[in-house]
Amino acid sequence: MNKLSIKDLDLRGKRVLIRVDFNVPLKDGVVEDETRIRGALPTINYAMEQGGRVLLASHLGRPKGERAEKYSLRPVAGHLSLLLGQPVAFAEDCIGPDVKAKVDALKDGDVLLLENLRFHPEEEKNDETFAKELAALCDVYVNDAFGAAHRAHASTAGITKYVGQAAAGLLMEKELEYLGRVIKDPAHPFVAILGGAKVSDKIAVINALIDRRVDKLLIGGAMAYTFFKAQGFTVGKSLVEDDKMPTALEIIERAKAAGVELLLPTDHQVVDSFDPLQSKKTIPIEFTNAGLVGLDIGAETVDLFSRALADAKTVIWNGPMGVFEEKALGFDQGTVGVARAVAEAADRGATVIVGGGDSVAAVNDAGVAERITHISTGGGATLEFLAGDELPGVAALNDK
Ligand code: 3PG
Repeated sequence: MNKLSIKDLDLRGKRVLIRVDFNVPLKDGVVEDETRIRGALPTINYAMEQGGRVLLASHLGRPKGERAEKYSLRPVAGHLSLLLGQPVAFAEDCIGPDVKAKVDALKDGDVLLLENLRFHPEEEKNDETFAKELAALCDVYVNDAFGAAHRAHASTAGITKYVGQAAAGLLMEKELEYLGRVIKDPAHPFVAILGGAKVSDKIAVINALIDRRVDKLLIGGAMAYTFFKAQGFTVGKSLVEDDKMPTALEIIERAKAAGVELLLPTDHQVVDSFDPLQSKKTIPIEFTNAGLVGLDIGAETVDLFSRALADAKTVIWNGPMGVFEEKALGFDQGTVGVARAVAEAADRGATVIVGGGDSVAAVNDAGVAERITHISTGGGATLEFLAGDELPGVAALNDK
């Protein structure tokens, strides 16, 4: 990477503003998945060890420019303090005189977490005055928020014009290195597994993967139904993007022309739309009738996808295979099955990269996280990077 790194900076006694992506799921004020917080620890620890006065800034959720308690980062300060084994101070806002006073009181090695940047509408507007106010809090700026690097916001892009130095953090560097390798020079066979509700979210990445000679493309999740319906299958009441059916057919044709093996589910878990709780069953795709809703892939498909990974040397996976959040009803099983399958591919020596909230959660649920080569903290950012787009949060950093 040709961007300045945190390792190139002199941090001693400096106010170091680190943009992190602490957009984590919270339930009743408790952090439900700490992957992103853990991801930022190497950078935070490094800045502390170097004697920096650390200010952390993040967004959480989409509060639409208004202060809302449920989007407060306060619980994250408590969680981070446990992980760091030292107190983490919290500021009730991210700009203003009270924040400035808290920053001025920091000693070398202290950590202060600022309140949600998105409580100010100016953050997402990449407002210049807001960016300047953030910049005025620090001496040097570090962007470690890979997950938000696809956003050109005040704290990821605008701020870099008003700080002395703008460098990448260690997580940002690690993400760019792993994902960059997949883009530039993947070892073959290269297999991509994509899921999630919508084809529209994944079109750019699918096309880029086909161009980059992915060998196999495995598609699960609700987005598979758009492919099925486009080919004339009955999908019942399953989720379909009707306007994306021509795109699905184009993708099938492009894959065929490029010699990419495109695999869709062969069976799925369905419920009757009139009796969703009692009617769950697994059936072949072609047995779907008008009253059924598909909510997860079936065991036969998990097996099909696992076999497709047998000789894989590079695997990327983004997106759940079904309504993963319905764990009590067992609709997480397809996604958890794929998590196990990609871990086995990693055990056989494949480079395996998993991204996206649900896929990462499934890897954790299946207890296989340690076996995965790289767990990306990005959702949309990972997809945009793999699609070949320049990420504004990276582009804005100083060159080495
Ligand atoms: C994410 O969760 O993908 C990032 O934190 C970015 O969040 P956003 O999609 O609300 O900008």
